[in-house]
Amino acid sequence: MLIDSHAHLLKEEFGEELEKELKKISESSVKIVNNIGYNLKSSEEAVRLTARYEFLFATVGIHPYDIKDFVSNNAVENICSLAKNKRVVAIGEIGLDYFRDISDFGDQKKYFKDQILIAKELGVPIIIHSRDAFKDTFNIIKETGYFNGVFHSFDYGIEEAKKILDSGMFISFSGMLTFKSKEKLKEVAKIVPLDRVLFETDSPYLAPVPKRGKRNTPLYVEYVYKTFSEIRGIKLEELEKIVEENFVRLFNRSKNFINGRHYVQDS
Ligand code: NI
Repeated sequence: MLIDSHAHLLKEEFGEELEKELKKISESSVKIVNNIGYNLKSSEEAVRLTARYEFLFATVGIHPYDIKDFVSNNAVENICSLAKNKRVVAIGEIGLDYFRDISDFGDQKKYFKDQILIAKELGVPIIIHSRDAFKDTFNIIKETGYFNGVFHSFDYGIEEAKKILDSGMFISFSGMLTFKSKEKLKEVAKIVPLDRVLFETDSPYLAPVPKRGKRNTPLYVEYVYKTFSEIRGIKLEELEKIVEENFVRLFNRSKNFINGRHYVQDS
């Protein structure tokens, strides 16, 4: 089975075609999708959708672009209460983005830390968005002492990857792994331990080769799997199994729900 560990299957992104897309995925070989919230509204929607689609898990959190939500709503409290739902498997996506100057950098840091602390209290992992901000991202995580999470749509280099891996966290590759221009990313894919890898689409963004330019969908996660399996010379079926185990190990709450199968609790 294929797993998309990060997609935004939400009204804001898919509009009137959302239901059609959800139905298509439910009939495909993509058996699990983490539906990722990025502000209060999308987080609530992601949680609501899990009641209707078995293949969906939800994550809740405020993205660095949406930090203004913290000012207008009582976000920390709202995120906490949403996260009590058992199909919420992580706090995210949260993090720092210095590439686009959308939210004040000081606010980004403050609320990133606050949200990591929510995750820590609940014992769920974090899904990290980090762009042009590796040092601060890593330092804030270090301050909380909570190295339980995944760098989503990883796009840093070998040095950063090693730091993340040494700390015990995971790396998730998106469709960027299939881009010709991303040689550096392929180097990271060569060295990442297999028990620390996840794949994602970040739909509707970042469609992989050969679908570049189209709206992305979890159905295209297979191209990320294929590219990685070629880079590492592993059979696709083997890789699927490894990624499934990784997913359940990181997103601990998912184990009660996946096809009624039992997994050994991570020690
Ligand atoms: Ni995303």
